[in-house]
Amino acid sequence: MFKAVIFDLDGVIVDTAKYHFEAWNELAKKLGFEITTHQNEQLKGVSRIKSLDIILEWGHIDLTQEQKDILLIQKNKTYLEFINRLDKSDILPEIVNVLNYLKSNNTAIALGSASKNALPILEKLGIKSLFDAIVDGTVVEKAKPNPEVFLKAANKLGVAPKDCIVIEDARAGVEAANSAKMLSVGIGSKEVLSNANYILEDTSKLSEKFLDSLLKNEK
Ligand code: BG6
Ligand code: MG
Repeated sequence: MFKAVIFDLDGVIVDTAKYHFEAWNELAKKLGFEITTHQNEQLKGVSRIKSLDIILEWGHIDLTQEQKDILLIQKNKTYLEFINRLDKSDILPEIVNVLNYLKSNNTAIALGSASKNALPILEKLGIKSLFDAIVDGTVVEKAKPNPEVFLKAANKLGVAPKDCIVIEDARAGVEAANSAKMLSVGIGSKEVLSNANYILEDTSKLSEKFLDSLLKNEK
């Protein structure tokens, strides 16, 4: 029996993955190139610092740490401008129903996100109190695909990793869940998330029936 569900934030709970992409692309354009949606899949789930290193590598750009720090601040500033306008309508389909369903079922709920902006986002969306544990980019040292974020979440909940389900939209996140020996549910395309135990096209497919069968280990 599974006892907990760990949710990624960006692209699973809320439609912010597109804002990360836009903010990174704005920065790349200033550096003289553009990021494709295909390339962006490699940035999903990855920490801010690691994302910048990947982008600079794509642009064959070598910068000092000081210059990188300035770019990291700039990117987050652009991102925060998008986030300031967030409200409940940005919560992805079925997520609130699923969170309430898990609560009524006494299944533990955690957040496992690379984002340092996770807390203000959950607060803005009015769903922070539904989480029994929150592990975000402010407390995690090793970026996904390292399993640290999910193992820390399981530990905080007091649930064994094998009893946890992870819901993720990033290839790196699914890999992190798999390395943590948790059941992985990928949200997105089969091409990108082929490493997940289950793949759903989008969160609207996260029905109570689907979750129930997973939780009871019937699948
Ligand atoms: C992840 C996103 O959740 O958080 C990445 O998928 C993002 O795109 C990372 O870079 C870090 O987020 P933040 O908000 O700390 O810049
Ligand atoms: Mg994500």
